[in-house]
Amino acid sequence: MTDVSIEPRTGGLPLDSLACPRCDGALDTAGTGLHCNGCNITFPVLGGVPWLFSEPNAALAEWRSRYQYTIERSNQDAVRARNEASAATRGSTRNRLTRLADARAAFAAELSSILEPLAGQPSDTAVETHLALKTRLPPGQGIDTYHANIHRDWCWGDEENQTSLDLVRAALPESPQNLLLLGAGAGRLAFDLHRTNPNQHTVALDINPLLVFIGANLAAGHPVALHEFPLAPKTATDVALPRVLENATPAAPGLHWVLGDAMRPPFQAGAFDALVTPWFVDIVDQDLATTAARINRLLEPQGCWVIFGSLAFGSPEYAQRYSLEESLEVIADAGFERPDVTETTIPYLCSPASRHGRREQVVTISAMKSREAEPIERHTTLPDWLVRSNLAVPLLSSFETQAISTRIYAFIMSMIDGKRSIAEMAKQMEEQQLMPKAEADAAIRNFLIKMYDESRSGMRY
Ligand SMILES: C[S@@+](CC[C@H](N)C(=O)[O-])C[C@H]1O[C@@H](n2cnc3c(N)ncnc32)[C@H](O)[C@@H]1O
Repeated sequence: MTDVSIEPRTGGLPLDSLACPRCDGALDTAGTGLHCNGCNITFPVLGGVPWLFSEPNAALAEWRSRYQYTIERSNQDAVRARNEASAATRGSTRNRLTRLADARAAFAAELSSILEPLAGQPSDTAVETHLALKTRLPPGQGIDTYHANIHRDWCWGDEENQTSLDLVRAALPESPQNLLLLGAGAGRLAFDLHRTNPNQHTVALDINPLLVFIGANLAAGHPVALHEFPLAPKTATDVALPRVLENATPAAPGLHWVLGDAMRPPFQAGAFDALVTPWFVDIVDQDLATTAARINRLLEPQGCWVIFGSLAFGSPEYAQRYSLEESLEVIADAGFERPDVTETTIPYLCSPASRHGRREQVVTISAMKSREAEPIERHTTLPDWLVRSNLAVPLLSSFETQAISTRIYAFIMSMIDGKRSIAEMAKQMEEQQLMPKAEADAAIRNFLIKMYDESRSGMRY
């Protein structure tokens, strides 16, 4: 990267390091955003952070709906806790529930405030375009999926952060010039790495706007209010804690934030001499082999990749749930050599207000790019038959099974009239020759339990 004068649309990040996430072409400044001439699309800058999703409007609409969902859920929780508080007979229970109700309502307001940069943008959903590009946000990730990581980063003290910093720092070259963190979360590690080498460009990319806006605010020295809801509260007070995240020493210039999808990284090939993936490679819905090839492309020759965190691959394909030994082979196949591996047991997400906390045996792998990886296709998340309307939908075996269950569930639902019992419904199932009565009784009960549980827990992202 060459140094240029501060460009507000990139938060000071040199423009020549950025690339269009759709075509990898160069970006230019345009109005208040960044423009790709080849694709004729402008990427906005929200809250001072470039929004470099391949279909920016659709990503904005999706994140908006996810955060509005979280806000609604939080407000509903507040109402529910308040109702339960007024029905509670014990004073201590009433106090706890009132505290929880107040905190859930305050949390909704805090989210709205932090995510305010998303609110004012025009909504142009373009879901079809989004699908045509076969990109979408990971379906399982909500706006507050990594809520605990935020407080760990900026509120619970230094132990966990310092341990991570020491391990990653030791695995990196002494003074990288251009360092990228993919899946940087709320950004404490990026901030700390930048602090230890303030002359480098440090780029923190994440897909989640809540995390990135919080990181960017704190790095600039602006405090952020955000309630904590410990998993296993130690006391009644710990059920909900008003927290103010603070950072007294703003980051030196050169720490940059980017919102985007690491599977479509919006950077030029060879833009970085060091790259860290903290707690990342095993949580993305992408084979490690593909992730490694993408990372190879972003690094310059002899660039260093540091993998840090767990190797708990959750892929639906067993073949992609790699052991450490296999992971090292996969990395080597993607053009990296001389991997240096350390394994260390560290505390993980241990809130001082929670009885819950983990110890994880983390790996730190540092490997050098020794050759270019084989080119890989652009990331897609959906098969063609789901994107295009004119292709036959394949009769997958899972669809066949689902079709049978759906018919049975529909029949059960049609029998629910507020009068029939489980036994009466089971008798009808037997009469329709769908199932013997004894089996039907258990099947109907299980189905109703599932429906009942879902109605109580609500939908969760
Ligand atoms: C397990 S968390 C780790 C976060 C952070 N490194 C930490 O240690 O707290 C995984 C992170 O990856 C981010 N993430 C998930 N999928 C992503 C994607 N496709 N592109 C960029 N970030 C992604 C999540 O938002 C989350 O911040």
